[in-house]
Amino acid sequence: MTEKPINLADAFATFDKLWSPRIVARVNDYDVRIAKVAGDHIWHAHTHTDEFFLVLDGVLRLALRDGGGEREVVLDRGEAFVVPAGVEHRPSAPGGASILMFEPSGTMTVGDHRDPVPGHVDVTAGTMISGSRT
Ligand code: NI
Repeated sequence: MTEKPINLADAFATFDKLWSPRIVARVNDYDVRIAKVAGDHIWHAHTHTDEFFLVLDGVLRLALRDGGGEREVVLDRGEAFVVPAGVEHRPSAPGGASILMFEPSGTMTVGDHRDPVPGHVDVTAGTMISGSRT
């Protein structure tokens, strides 16, 4: 639960690290996470869960390997997209973006990816925003 309203602008002001989601709320066994992103994430998939993305600022590109080919969806501010479970995807944001994600607690940012992960990408299930309560 939350005892007071969640201010996303205040939450974003508490961190600068890229590709390192912060958990702003927990809803049943799902996390609402926010992240600052820029440049490329890595190709990965989440075998057991869909992943919801909402762009709050900037532009997020999602490269997808589905249907036997590769394609890219481009999400502008205010647009949302669900990557289905098992679909390989690579988020990127050449110009930077602020995003919100909704996915089961414990979902790793790099999915089932097991190859070495570049240093600019955090391997995490999200960090609680300090001061928030669940
Ligand atoms: Ni993902």
